[in-house]
Amino acid sequence: MPTRVLSGTRPTGKLHLGNLLGAIENYKKLQGVDSFFMIADWHALTTEYESRTTIAEQVMEVVIDYLACGLDPDQCTIFVQSEVPAHAEMALLLSMITPLGWLERNPTYKDQLRELEGRELHTHGFLGYPVLQAADILLYKARKVPVGEDQLPHLELTREIARRFSHLYKTDIFPEPQAILTQTPRIPGIDGRKMSKSYDNCIYLADSEEETKKKVLSMITDPARKRREDKGHPEVCPVFLYHQIFNSSQTETVAHECRNALRGCVECKLEMVGKMNEFLSPIRKRREEWNRKRTEVRKILDRGKKRAQEVADQTLLEAMKAVGLRS
Ligand code: TRP
Ligand code: SF4
Repeated sequence: MPTRVLSGTRPTGKLHLGNLLGAIENYKKLQGVDSFFMIADWHALTTEYESRTTIAEQVMEVVIDYLACGLDPDQCTIFVQSEVPAHAEMALLLSMITPLGWLERNPTYKDQLRELEGRELHTHGFLGYPVLQAADILLYKARKVPVGEDQLPHLELTREIARRFSHLYKTDIFPEPQAILTQTPRIPGIDGRKMSKSYDNCIYLADSEEETKKKVLSMITDPARKRREDKGHPEVCPVFLYHQIFNSSQTETVAHECRNALRGCVECKLEMVGKMNEFLSPIRKRREEWNRKRTEVRKILDRGKKRAQEVADQTLLEAMKAVGLRS
């Protein structure tokens, strides 16, 4: 049997380079008959419930980003979380056995409360975020979960919940899922901090060539390099990190010239963004094509929903039997 793969993305806006390099690259590598990629719209609602944006519209943007990145709907199942009701039911079931302390101690929860200051996030739904995520993963009995580094605590909680379920009900219906990280799990944004929507420092897959260039030119570099004559320290410069990703054949030259003040930062950025744009150009092209075929995108989601439902409903029934809700 092939290894079951599942992952998901919160539709809180368009995807950026951090999403692509941190996780979606691995979706692409792992896609195959038994892979499921979900748009986690319930998860988006946990933090966006006050904002009055239409999450459904953002769902479409993420699906189009998925397709543009190279997910092939004939090879994998792409679906929307809220269209498969078993996710909500399974989350409720798992919430019965999840101790509050596990959720309150979750480091991602504490980070996010701090990061998203200004929103009222002391809600049942937000605290229960990892329970919903555990439901997503366990419903598909997924063994591999390609995610960004920030999701590791959630995967650990999923395993703990699975173990507790197995222990309480003496069953082995849930295998333990494993996180799959990419080579570059942490991508800096244009300000050098982690690339994140909430920091407004992202390069989006939907940005044009010009926008991308403008953003790169505004990037911070080695803060100790005030003048062109100053020698630089590539190891602390986010532009250099991008060189390593998009211009890897030239990294030694770039590092050498930076250290010896043989290249200016503007020139260095222009060389890098040329390569970055080369990498992004086919993605942008496919994005525009799919954007014009939205009826077809909707059909892909309808097919995905059906396939996801078959697996999820089956597992939900097993779990309901295990806890005694069905005989
Ligand atoms: N919490 C994940 C994120 O913010 C999104 C997500 C929801 C997810 N359900 C999932 C990821 C299940 C992997 C598996 O990126
Ligand atoms: Fe960064 Fe390039 Fe400037 Fe060196 S020359 S500090 S690597 S932008």
